[in-house]
Amino acid sequence: MALRKILYYPDPKLKAIAQPIIEINNDIKKLIDDMFDTMYEAKGCGLAATQIGVPLQLVVIDFGEEKKQNPLVLINPVITEQSGEQTFEEGCLSLPGLYEKVKRASNIKLTALDEKNTPFEICAKEDYFCQCLQHEIDHLQGKLFIDHLSPLKRSRAKKKLAKGLEA
Ligand code: NI
Repeated sequence: MALRKILYYPDPKLKAIAQPIIEINNDIKKLIDDMFDTMYEAKGCGLAATQIGVPLQLVVIDFGEEKKQNPLVLINPVITEQSGEQTFEEGCLSLPGLYEKVKRASNIKLTALDEKNTPFEICAKEDYFCQCLQHEIDHLQGKLFIDHLSPLKRSRAKKKLAKGLEA
């Protein structure tokens, strides 16, 4: 097990556009293991490779109550359909201490590869999981949840974060 360092806003690497993974080799498998370890250690339920400074299209998620209950790996995820609207409060390991309501699609369909290179599809609808998938895939585009806030709320959020960093 190896923990990776989670990058915090405003680290410019969080804005990197992640590249697709061409081959799921041992390095990628090790990266997946490290990402789960890092996410569990930080008590998060989702982590994108961008957040540890690796600009590859890789996300790990676990919504289980217990550690390693529902580990989900998304390699090269693509949202193929989205519709509707929902609002949930979000937090992010890269924005410690900040929680804000974010409006996103309420229905999504996505395709991805698992760690065995097998393609699969997920449909998520009107729940926090649907919100989380979009949040994590945003990270791969260099986007943070504060980018979805109104300019006023975003500047307030940034001030809050700056204060947190000073403290
Ligand atoms: Ni996040």
